[in-house]
Amino acid sequence: MAAEVIEMFRRQWTTYRRVVDNDLMEHRDLTAALAAAIDGWLAQRDPAAPLPHLVDLGSGDLGLLPPLLRRLPLASFTALDLNGAVLPLAAEALGPVPYPCRFEEGDLLGWAEADGPPVDVVISGFAVHHLREPEKERFLRGCRRRIAPGGLLLWADVFRPAGESREAYVARYCQRVHGWTPLEADRQEEVIAHLSAWDHPADRATIEQVAMAAGWHWRWLWQGHHDAEALAALTPA
Ligand SMILES: C[S@@+](CC[C@H](N)C(=O)[O-])C[C@H]1O[C@@H](n2cnc3c(N)ncnc32)[C@H](O)[C@@H]1O
Repeated sequence: MAAEVIEMFRRQWTTYRRVVDNDLMEHRDLTAALAAAIDGWLAQRDPAAPLPHLVDLGSGDLGLLPPLLRRLPLASFTALDLNGAVLPLAAEALGPVPYPCRFEEGDLLGWAEADGPPVDVVISGFAVHHLREPEKERFLRGCRRRIAPGGLLLWADVFRPAGESREAYVARYCQRVHGWTPLEADRQEEVIAHLSAWDHPADRATIEQVAMAAGWHWRWLWQGHHDAEALAALTPA
């Protein structure tokens, strides 16, 4: 699937940027909640602990994260995305920071299942819902293995209310996109084609159970207004 997905993301990137810039998926509130979660996590750490390593899986161009990233006390930052074309945009958006950064082309499931040094904070925004359910489970198990003791996984994504079918979710979301008036009709259709083909949001109740079985403690931190966008904090159980 990788080559096809990469091509699709390249083509649709400008449309996605318009979605973010017009706050159609509530990135502003979501990013504020994510920033509060990281600040809270930093505040409860031992002040003598080494600076944390942070990884953003499916980073895109970093969206609204650069101001947050620029002020965080980090040991390192890694942005990973399947679509290598967005990584220079991410680097440019971040600009100079006082810690080492890596911008890596790669698959987030591959990252989760690879060996590597423990990571303190993993964030992922609107990327994991492209995985099917067995892959989401592997992702959660892999991240659990890679997270440092006391670490934090912040999973921002679209999710289905418990019990809602994917078909019902897609129909509901498509109707919503038809109301995205800042986008022209052909852009709306692009979004609809994308989500109809590629989006597999997790069922909220099921994914909590899957995460717990993988060794995580799950906490919802923020919910958008549409029974779709949400932010969960996962910590080692
Ligand atoms: C909807 S954009 C989200 C970008 C940004 N994280 C945000 O929150 O706005 C999804 C991003 O995830 C990337 N992506 C999708 N599947 C991926 C995978 N399996 N591994 C790595 N990146 C992936 C896409 O290339 C795209 O840049």
